[in-house]
Amino acid sequence: MTAPDLTDPETLRERALAALTTARDRTALLTSCVEDPDLTAQHSPLMSPLVWDLAHIGNQEEMWLLREVAGRDAMRPEIDGLYDAFEHPRAERPSLPLLPPDEARRYAAEVRGRALDVLEGTRFRGTPLTEAGFAFGMIAQHEQQHDETMLITHQLRKGPAALTAPDPAPAPQFTGPAEVLVPGGPFTMGTSAEPWALDNERPAHQRLVPPFFIDTTPVTNAAYQAFIADGGYGDPRWWSPDGWTHIRSHSIEAPLFWRREGGQWLRRRFGVTEVVPPDEPVLHVSWYEADAYARWAGRRLPTETEWEKAARHDPAADRSTRYPWGDADPTPEHANLGQRHLRPAPAGSYPAGESPLGVRQLIGDVWEWTASDFMPYPGFTAFPYKEYSEVFFGPEHKVLRGGSFAVDAVACRGTFRNWDYPIRRQIFSGFRTARDAATEMT
Ligand code: AVJ
Ligand code: FE
Repeated sequence: MTAPDLTDPETLRERALAALTTARDRTALLTSCVEDPDLTAQHSPLMSPLVWDLAHIGNQEEMWLLREVAGRDAMRPEIDGLYDAFEHPRAERPSLPLLPPDEARRYAAEVRGRALDVLEGTRFRGTPLTEAGFAFGMIAQHEQQHDETMLITHQLRKGPAALTAPDPAPAPQFTGPAEVLVPGGPFTMGTSAEPWALDNERPAHQRLVPPFFIDTTPVTNAAYQAFIADGGYGDPRWWSPDGWTHIRSHSIEAPLFWRREGGQWLRRRFGVTEVVPPDEPVLHVSWYEADAYARWAGRRLPTETEWEKAARHDPAADRSTRYPWGDADPTPEHANLGQRHLRPAPAGSYPAGESPLGVRQLIGDVWEWTASDFMPYPGFTAFPYKEYSEVFFGPEHKVLRGGSFAVDAVACRGTFRNWDYPIRRQIFSGFRTARDAATEMT
């Protein structure tokens, strides 16, 4: 169970090729499971048409691997503006003269062919972009991030199911402790060593963390239903002032996609209506809802620092690992990742993926809201572009950690940081709770 050798150029070439291929296979599935009109339509003002994501994936790959790494000229300079996320907000994208589906596919495929030639010839040295294959890893992660975005679009899309996947294995009722104590003390947050870590995960630095308790598993639908049944959505005591204003003005009374019928909660998941499974981590809640639940439960959301310490600190070795289970890359035994399943696994699943202290499902299943704003680490430098992280730093975005069932392993690790507005809930978001332990330390 050791980390892969990323100093060997042939290992890097294989990993880059595998990561790019896995991403493209997923992109192909997500953009071939519906007919063209569903690719060009906007299914929600929050999302791009799927055909925008497709060409944007190709355009970013062209920009970084062909133009920046290999010094090639632009293939189609006239389309760059269309696929610049900052030039056109999502709501505007359907009215742009986008490449039609066939042309978008052809463009992305042509870029890929040339990028693989570049990959074959690279020596993974010389510039920060090529060092350890960073640009290839960044582009594979970028495509996978859009594959998650496209899966969100599929979840928002009306109409019958277009995507299916086997369910996770049923799990025996989890009988471990509800929470674990993470002892106080310093730990190493972030990384300077992980070659494909993105700029916001860097650099590694020490943080002193007071002792705290954290839930062993994410909060389940059953637990969340108890909050609803207790009148949680109608009681301002549990809500932050902004959260209360938001749920009242939008008449929010349950997680997104939930509906109450005949005395039970139903949900719509990828075109199929089903009874909300009590033992699964709750999904499609906003930061405001997570924060309110935690307060109702007499607890709070973990800070981002606490989350990462729970996920990476190995108390025996006194060091931070890449994942809760150690340094080995994720396998299907460790975590629910990669859209293998189109839902979270029951709480308490994946014993092989637990942390040394016994915390489960930190990686995969549901993105976990943390209490923290998205801020740069001390010593942060934007790389290779400010628009990946830097322009999003600030109190308007909350950090999510750990990845969901929709995230590929290449874009998920103990240091990976995601962020979104506290109102967002179309994302595959859930949470776990924490509490201070300081009062019990005598
Ligand atoms: C890191 C998931 C917030 O999807 O907006 C994709 C990733 N950045 N293209 C996003 C991203 C540029 C980003 N998130
Ligand atoms: Fe993008």
